[in-house]
Amino acid sequence: MNHDSSTSPLVGIIMGSDSDLRIMGEAAEFLEDLGVPVEVSIVSAHRTPERLFTYAAEAETRGIQVIVAGAGGAAHLPGMVAAISALPVIGVPVKSRNSIDGWDSLLSILQMPAGVPVATVAVDGAKNAGILAAQILAVRDPQLREKIKAYKQSLTQSVLEKVERIEGEGWRALRR
Ligand code: RP5
Repeated sequence: MNHDSSTSPLVGIIMGSDSDLRIMGEAAEFLEDLGVPVEVSIVSAHRTPERLFTYAAEAETRGIQVIVAGAGGAAHLPGMVAAISALPVIGVPVKSRNSIDGWDSLLSILQMPAGVPVATVAVDGAKNAGILAAQILAVRDPQLREKIKAYKQSLTQSVLEKVERIEGEGWRALRR
């Protein structure tokens, strides 16, 4: 499958507020860098409940294959989307202004009842949500899987370069 960002979106990235974009942009950025077409929008469980229902109910027929949903505080967006749609939902707990250290967001997204899973990443872990969404798509897309392998190899390479520096120049060279 060839990913041209001008084609119709495969990943729907939604968030409760534009204030979540600071974090959620990392998911969009990772996917776009891999050439995966995404759509980014605001869907608030509490402020636009009807929009939430419509978005979740129609995402599949619009061609979306994975939904990444981020929210902070009393974060009901990912769970409600998972309740309505059969698409896999990856939840991003956002440490927002109204959040108590991210714990409320995390537990609201993580502690779903049996039968309605949300794949929950770390607090503010939007980049990992983007990676996970790409990995889900890559199950049936060898070209994308190769890009993910290359990304993982780049992580390994970056650590090995630091090992080389620490061994050559001493630990002080890498102290931040
Ligand atoms: C949540 O409330 C949103 O997902 C956001 O993280 C938080 C704060 O929203 P704003 O007041 O900044 O719009 O629903």
